[in-house]
Amino acid sequence: MADAIFQPLSFKNLTVKNRVFRSNISGRFDNYDGSGNQARINWEVKFARGGVGAIVSSFVPVHLRGRIVPNYAMIDDDSRIPFWRAVGQAVHEHDSRFILQLSHGGRQRDINGIEYPIGLSSTDKRDPIHGFACERMTLAQIHEVIQAFAEGARRAREAGLDGVELHGANGYLITQFLSSAINDRDDDYGGPLENRARFVLDIVRAIRVRVGHDFHLQVKISATDDDNVLSPLRSGSPGNTLADSVKVCRWLVDAGVDAIHVSRGSFFPHPRNPAGTDLPIDDLERSYDTMISSGERTFLNFLLFRGLSGELARRQWNAAAGDRDRIEGANRGDARAIKQAVAVPVICTGGFQTASVIRDAIENRDCDAVSIARPLVANNDLVRMFERGLDRAPKPCTYCNKCLVNVIENPLGCYDDTRFPSREAMIAEIMSVYKPPPFA
Ligand SMILES: Cc1cc2nc3c(=O)[nH]c(=O)nc-3n(C[C@H](O)[C@H](O)[C@H](O)COP(=O)(O)O)c2cc1C
Ligand code: SF4
Repeated sequence: MADAIFQPLSFKNLTVKNRVFRSNISGRFDNYDGSGNQARINWEVKFARGGVGAIVSSFVPVHLRGRIVPNYAMIDDDSRIPFWRAVGQAVHEHDSRFILQLSHGGRQRDINGIEYPIGLSSTDKRDPIHGFACERMTLAQIHEVIQAFAEGARRAREAGLDGVELHGANGYLITQFLSSAINDRDDDYGGPLENRARFVLDIVRAIRVRVGHDFHLQVKISATDDDNVLSPLRSGSPGNTLADSVKVCRWLVDAGVDAIHVSRGSFFPHPRNPAGTDLPIDDLERSYDTMISSGERTFLNFLLFRGLSGELARRQWNAAAGDRDRIEGANRGDARAIKQAVAVPVICTGGFQTASVIRDAIENRDCDAVSIARPLVANNDLVRMFERGLDRAPKPCTYCNKCLVNVIENPLGCYDDTRFPSREAMIAEIMSVYKPPPFA
């Protein structure tokens, strides 16, 4: 029987050669002003060369105020189009597709940058983890951001990319509207689920007006918010449930969305996304200082991550993470429920790195494709290994999450030195993203 992993997947306006997508993974490779550079191209090419069917880009802000850290390439202006065209062409040379993630961080940020110290949100409550201040969006600001998403989609199309994804997951601006745990508005964009979904549905409709119906558009959504996992005794609202998200996905598809990408969590990072074997508190303590001046709670957190309180924070995080034996495919059940409710393909993210598990998820009709982030950072050529018949990489991703906590300060890459012959070999691999250099 033909291998399910290597069957092409056809969406309404896009065909992808296999069922493995590189999931969104952001690194601070670009320039402070949001222009892109060669390192970003090198980064994406690593995965295209490694055989993934498609790359879903990192977080690409549609507006400067939606940036979560400086040094992310943006798509907020027509002057960005040539860069994204170059990224797309480099990826296409390896027969891989490129889907750009249109994003706005809202109040959930890491480093403000100098241009907009205050974020926008559905609410005026600070983000609870780092204490980033925000302003409750007026209707005029809501309409402006909707148009910024539509313009971002138009630019992605003009750049010759293969589609766009709305970042509707993990606590960023769209989640801040969708989630019952965050949205406290009393106008047409708050209150019942229909109203909370209005913002993302308006974006979808605006994109369709701007780019037509023959350009691929997918949405990444948190199927469950699990908003209260870190609060004592799980007090407080859990936020949106799977049943809520199933309804939202139906509405999204009715409004013209071509695929759903299933994630989880109403903030990022979240103990269950990306789910890890441990919170790497030592690495976190070393990198978190970069954020100290950005949020109201960041200095307190920095102190908390040290010594005994750091150990307690680690235990609390790990307790909230749930079953560590179920990291691979943890979102399969949610993806299945959504797949049963919609007539478009469903992509599932979360821990995938074993060919037999991926095959089983597809054959079992839990999802149509998987998206992979960390295991591809650990093994850029994982799909080539599957092609050769390996079920798993000889040195798999350990889900240690050191890549995640380093990314705020250091170049993105695998930071688990147990996977490398030496620390020097690990650093050389991390720094390989700068080769070739910009002026080669
Ligand atoms: C360092 C890092 C950066 C990430 N950046 C993004 C991002 O920009 N946008 C997004 O939707 N998800 C992002 N994610 C989440 C991943 O795309 C993925 O959904 C999640 O890590 C679970 O998949 P995995 O187990 O294969 O890593 C990021 C994850 C990591 C570890
Ligand atoms: S640091 Fe490496 S091994 Fe650890 S989660 Fe990230 S990619 Fe996987």
